Amino acid sequence: MKPMRTPILRGLKPYYGTRLGSAYLGDARQLLRHIPDGSVNLILTSPPFALIHRKEYGNPPPEDYIQWFMGFIGEFKRILTPDGSLVIHIGGSWIRGEPRKNLYNFQLLIEISRELKFLQDFYWFNPAKLPAPAEWVAVRRIRVKDAVDPIWWFSPTANPKADNRRVLTPYSEDMRRILRGEKHYRSMERPSGHRITEWFRRGGEGAIPPNLIIAPNTDSRGRYIRRCRIYGIKPHPARYPAEIPRFFIRFLTEPGDLVLDPFAGSNTTGWVAERLGRRWLSFEMREEYLRGSMLRFERDEIMEGLENYPGGEPKT
Ligand SMILES: C[S@@+](CC[C@H](N)C(=O)[O-])C[C@H]1O[C@@H](n2cnc3c(N)ncnc32)[C@H](O)[C@@H]1O
Repeated sequence: MKPMRTPILRGLKPYYGTRLGSAYLGDARQLLRHIPDGSVNLILTSPPFALIHRKEYGNPPPEDYIQWFMGFIGEFKRILTPDGSLVIHIGGSWIRGEPRKNLYNFQLLIEISRELKFLQDFYWFNPAKLPAPAEWVAVRRIRVKDAVDPIWWFSPTANPKADNRRVLTPYSEDMRRILRGEKHYRSMERPSGHRITEWFRRGGEGAIPPNLIIAPNTDSRGRYIRRCRIYGIKPHPARYPAEIPRFFIRFLTEPGDLVLDPFAGSNTTGWVAERLGRRWLSFEMREEYLRGSMLRFERDEIMEGLENYPGGEPKT
């Protein structure tokens, strides 16, 4: 395994640092230039989407989105290791005033695939998503709840570092019975024409997961939210659940590898990477989010920038 050294950007002071990672305050466009060539194993991020109702941190308008995002791709390519991966969670958007969806995230997929190899599409199903856009879904009832976000996976190569044995899920009870020999499974051709052969019965350590990640985004009692409440800090308005970075970091990296989130928000990515023994770098433009993100870590995990740790008297 590689020696665990906290990644730092030469000449720049992190806003805070832990044993395995550093978070920087600033515009990713500038900060990326400080990362050495071919040094990042995984860029995993949820950038601002091209939303009609813009979030408080500002979203590029749909008509400028592709150009805005593609402005980062040159640097992403430069810093990725030859067998590294770029994973982008990029939710959908609607056409203003019309009950139809914007295709910007699919256009982005096509544009990026001219620069990097597109490997696979994943989808995050959030069963707790609210019925929106309210006008079409809840008032006129002519569309249904939009509860699935795409996640695109790219790499400089068609064979990046990846191992689905690191993301196996528990077998269903039915499958466990087959493996224990308590239930008979006839080796036969399925209606789809696929032949299920003996390897199926041999089993492994778990089931191979599909490209659908099911995770409700309803964390209202987690440590980050609780601590934000205590210290009077507004939680980040567009966090993704820890299940997303957990899946891709385990699938696409090994302990000691370097994970970057250039649009880190509340630094879910860095926090999960730390727990999984991966080194991490996170960039965020707004100080309030970065300051709040420190609350994900224990005070004694912060090895640099402790002066920025939200402190003082709890507000509740
Ligand atoms: C969708 S949020 C990321 C949320 C994150 N995945 C989480 O779980 O908290 C996108 C973030 O990108 C930040 N951002 C937008 N443009 C940026 C830029 N050029 N450089 C750095 N951060 C930027 C925004 O302030 C926002 O917090």
